[in-house]
Amino acid sequence: MWILFGFILIMFLIIVSASIVYSTLKYGISPMPSSSKVKKCIEEVLPDRVEGKVYELGCGWGALAFRLASLYPEAEIQAYEVSPMPWLYTYILQRIYRFSNMTLYWKDFYLDSLEDASLIVCYLYPGAMERLKKKFEEELKPGTLIVSNTFAIPGWEPEQVIKVNDFYRTKVYVYRSK
Ligand SMILES: C[S@@+](CC[C@H](N)C(=O)[O-])C[C@H]1O[C@@H](n2cnc3c(N)ncnc32)[C@H](O)[C@@H]1O
Repeated sequence: MWILFGFILIMFLIIVSASIVYSTLKYGISPMPSSSKVKKCIEEVLPDRVEGKVYELGCGWGALAFRLASLYPEAEIQAYEVSPMPWLYTYILQRIYRFSNMTLYWKDFYLDSLEDASLIVCYLYPGAMERLKKKFEEELKPGTLIVSNTFAIPGWEPEQVIKVNDFYRTKVYVYRSK
């Protein structure tokens, strides 16, 4: 009985790890969450109210998306994740905690339009920011607030760059679309 249980557990861990490694290689970023200091810094730069939709591009294990959902109960949170295990984990937590103002997509965020975004939050990688720059310029309405953990939008002038007091001296970039 215990041998069977141990075998199932090991197989489960292998499948979870393989799936995370596969998605990391395919999409260029692991599901590493923003640290608590960075999350706090992001919260400090966010407005008190948001009208319209809030997008989290690559929500990982969901902690930041859930925080956004509780900060903005009036807004619709659109959380995207492609990696199956983080998505599944977030899906289960969302079912448990019933964040009714959050929609979770197991989907590549490049496939959907961002034209109705009022706020975008992301923690991605340089290649994604390069690709998003074009998408932002084509789709965002003027005045959309963008908050990016660590990675700048190439060629855009940030409204603010905050240096977080953490080990990596992480930068949080704040932009507003023109
Ligand atoms: C570094 S994690 C950030 C997680 C979370 N946003 C946070 O700050 O705690 C980046 C996540 O973006 C996801 N991702 C990368 N490219 C994506 C895409 N095109 N569509 C949806 N998710 C994507 C990755 O799978 C990964 O889980």
